[in-house]
Amino acid sequence: MPQDPLLSLGLAQTTLYPFALEVERAQGVFIYTTDGKRYFDLISGIGVSNVGHGHPHIKAALHEQIEKHLHVMVYGEYLQASQTRAAQALTSVLPESLNCCYFVNSGAEAIEAALKLAKRITGRTQLIACKGAYHGNTHGSMSVSHNEKKKSAFRPLLPDVHFIAFNAMHDLENITTQTACVIVETIQGDAGVRIPDVAWMKALRKKCDETCTMLILDEIQCGMGRAGSLFAFEQMEIVPDILVLGKALGGGLPVGCVVASREFMRLFTHEPMLGHISTFAGHPLVCAAVAANLEVFQQENIVSDVERKGQRMANFLRQFEAVKEVRQRGLFFAIDLESEDVVRRVVEHCMAHGVITFWFLSCPWSFRIAPPLTITDAEIDEALAVIGQALQSV
Ligand SMILES: Cc1ncc(COP(=O)(O)O)c(C=O)c1O
Repeated sequence: MPQDPLLSLGLAQTTLYPFALEVERAQGVFIYTTDGKRYFDLISGIGVSNVGHGHPHIKAALHEQIEKHLHVMVYGEYLQASQTRAAQALTSVLPESLNCCYFVNSGAEAIEAALKLAKRITGRTQLIACKGAYHGNTHGSMSVSHNEKKKSAFRPLLPDVHFIAFNAMHDLENITTQTACVIVETIQGDAGVRIPDVAWMKALRKKCDETCTMLILDEIQCGMGRAGSLFAFEQMEIVPDILVLGKALGGGLPVGCVVASREFMRLFTHEPMLGHISTFAGHPLVCAAVAANLEVFQQENIVSDVERKGQRMANFLRQFEAVKEVRQRGLFFAIDLESEDVVRRVVEHCMAHGVITFWFLSCPWSFRIAPPLTITDAEIDEALAVIGQALQSV
């Protein structure tokens, strides 16, 4: 591979060693490259292609919307049918209290809006997040992310941010009447698929209720069926005050979404007016994709088979001596190996044999699998055969 394959084309590069696959097209669980190769996308473009690449229903909705209109006005001034459809589709599958959506352009942007909303609701400044958390790469979302190696070059970040241990009862004491919000990934992704106890989640909810603190659940990665239910919090017997979605919500288009009650969301309209604004938020094309994507989830009952497929894959992976631990919920996996170097060799072996896996930023001894939820048993078997070879060869 040439040095700096993106930079040399005038494109920003984020690592010195990008995979630099030259993509021709993508369909279902496969990415096809210009050199005629076919790859299993076992990471769904990092948690995005949950209904597979190029779903025909989403493509049809996009074509239809293109014929009607694209951007017409900054968010919040006009009524646009695609936005209304997306909001109705989303709120219809959420608890009654989560009845108002603010669609934005990315996960990190939705996190920014959620943090601002929590400050506006409570009039407080203290933000509590969890050790191991990843919430995005803008200044605000990075402030509530934990990995100091990724943050130190960009300090100073937001003030009054505190971290508690994830899934640790004793640390809930740090939540007080000074706290604007606690922001938590319902299942931590980048920390290596860390699944909290239901008891901890319920205690967290209770503590937030007692102190009138907003509970923000970040389901940007673990939502949209990834963990075997449409939203991971359904498995935790709690409802957040503010829910943040992104990634797979857009069916392949860039989106983030903050969901809260109408009463809370109304606070963005005054003191100050235009409390959160963004030109392209709720873009009609994106919202058409969101609505169509949610229809696909319903029509194809996408979530129903996810846990069974996940357990089948986990059982296969647990057979190998190289595998120290498999953490799995639905089709969301972290597979712990001996070291970072072993992870690199497994990922490279898989890639060389047509299977895309990946690593985690904050859990370097683990590799990541999160295939499209539509993957068939036959496709699982074919991809696992390659992963099995890789695990045996290291
Ligand atoms: C849990 C979580 N929150 C927030 C984000 C940020 O989303 P985006 O990359 O769309 O800004 C991510 C991205 O990986 C994520 O996994």
